[in-house]
Amino acid sequence: MKFRPTALVLGLAAAATLVAGCAGMMEAPVPVLKDGELALPADYKTWPKFLSAVQRPDAKQVREIYMNPVAAKATAAGGFANGSVFVMENYAAKAKADGTLETGPDGKLVKGDLLRAFVMGKNKGWGEDVPEALRNGNWVYASYLGNGQKGPEPGAACRGCHTPLKDKDFVFRYDEHFAQKGK
Ligand code: HEC
Repeated sequence: MKFRPTALVLGLAAAATLVAGCAGMMEAPVPVLKDGELALPADYKTWPKFLSAVQRPDAKQVREIYMNPVAAKATAAGGFANGSVFVMENYAAKAKADGTLETGPDGKLVKGDLLRAFVMGKNKGWGEDVPEALRNGNWVYASYLGNGQKGPEPGAACRGCHTPLKDKDFVFRYDEHFAQKGK
């Protein structure tokens, strides 16, 4: 067969275009967010639950934890992929007149006012400007009040508690969640 450099060059150019096209599609630009910049997603209450009615009598709170569809695909072995977001609602536990906490017919604490919605999400390049000692992979944090306005907690406060959980992708209730999910 006769060697045809033009066909070869055209073929290579076509392949290169295809590769560049794929890379371009995979790398849809994600804005790099810092602590406090992660929005409270408007539709988070439609997301799957990560854990329900987390009982925190010590903090006088009940917590509801939601995860977005990306986080819902995670496995215990693989951890959470970029694009994962959690929202944790912190409700005041209702107290009786004598100050002890109320419990419902199911024996659980009763939800009162929504005090905070804590958001954490991870993505490519996020959190990389954080000092090494407080870096939590690519997770960033934000706090909102019950009315949706920004909460006062700085990201460093969130990191203080979550940073030691390196083996669990910095997620506190990792084992409990995957034990419930069954994988
Ligand atoms: C005092 C330690 C502490 C601080 C500070 C803290 N967290 Fe957490 N966080 C926890 C614990 C413990 C849990 C597990 C749920 C529970 O027991 O209430 C948790 C759970 C979460 C979850 C659900 C996913 C998971 O890890 O299980 C999110 C989201 C979250 N925290 C976000 C934040 C944000 C945002 C901040 C800062 C505004 C913050 N946290 C500050 C201790 C802390």
